[in-house]
Amino acid sequence: MAPPGTLDGARVLFTGAGGQLGAYLPAALRAAGAQPVSAGHREGPGIDLAADLTRLGAAERLIEDARPDLVIHGAAWTDVDGAERDPGGARAMNVDAARWMAEACRARGVRLVAVSTDFVFSGQGGAPYPEDAASDPISVYGRTKRDGELAVLAADPGFAVARTAWLYGGPAKHFPRTVLNVLAARGSIEVVDDEAGSPTFAGDLADALVALAAAGGAGIFHLANAGRASRFELAQAVAWHAGFPVEWVQPISTEGFLAKFPLPAARPADSELRNIRAADLGIVLRPWRAAIADYVPRLARELGITPH
Ligand SMILES: NC(=O)c1ccc[n+]([C@@H]2O[C@H](COP(=O)([O-])OP(=O)(O)OC[C@H]3O[C@@H](n4cnc5c(N)ncnc54)[C@H](OP(=O)(O)O)[C@@H]3O)[C@@H](O)[C@H]2O)c1
Repeated sequence: MAPPGTLDGARVLFTGAGGQLGAYLPAALRAAGAQPVSAGHREGPGIDLAADLTRLGAAERLIEDARPDLVIHGAAWTDVDGAERDPGGARAMNVDAARWMAEACRARGVRLVAVSTDFVFSGQGGAPYPEDAASDPISVYGRTKRDGELAVLAADPGFAVARTAWLYGGPAKHFPRTVLNVLAARGSIEVVDDEAGSPTFAGDLADALVALAAAGGAGIFHLANAGRASRFELAQAVAWHAGFPVEWVQPISTEGFLAKFPLPAARPADSELRNIRAADLGIVLRPWRAAIADYVPRLARELGITPH
């Protein structure tokens, strides 16, 4: 068991090992002296234990097999548009599986940090949102994540829920990767300038989650890179740091974009998150522009992109 205030020697089970956040948690945990145990949806490289968490009893079995001191539950149904088409599937993962994980942790006296989203907010006034702002989701994804938060804290108010936003990083598809791929292929991209939020590097989130777990925080926290960006501003920053002309990024309204590419899920217009409670514990994430400046040149090299 770790001494209070640290994770030194703690066994930490994290779910969603195959996802964006999961790509950075092992290093963040090891840096804190913890022993990571990775749980993925399916077996594969870097996965210690595999389980479909929507199956009854899967969370209990995972806890029994891993015998953790702490769980970081990052696994989720994250396909925002897919959730509108299959609300039952999204609910099974984001509400039922979250509840089962929380109940399994409570039954064994294991602490839990669950990851949630800015999409619990409508984004129609109130940004930057503090942790105690009333949630008012406008999509199936947002509603299921909100209900998952409630289920986790109902199981044990001593658990933590960490909301983050606009995550990018790791080998999977994400917004900066799409921007670079489109710019490299077409030399231009249209990006909405009336949707804003808190772009967050998954590596920074992993470090902050580990710090929050070590600090023993309970209740709701906002962990996102600091500051507000529109999608358009974010895409311009991505272009610039990869060496593309920023004029190649063209603004478009959400209305104009949806007329060309209809999407089933509504997105919050401005869901910037304000970190008050984690900052009180000394946990502050750097500004989003600093994180992008660091990450994008590495991503461009990884993609073999040579700007025109
Ligand atoms: N991505 C964002 O922009 C964003 C923004 C705000 C908050 N968040 C939250 O941050 C957390 C991490 O997000 P992320 O971007 O790292 O997500 P991600 O890349 O989509 O990874 C989620 C992981 O959950 C796994 N998973 C899904 N269904 C499962 C099931 N039935 N059983 C076991 N595992 C399952 C997925 O495995 P498969 O892929 O194999 O199904 C995937 O590896 C999530 O809680 C998400 O809601 C994300």
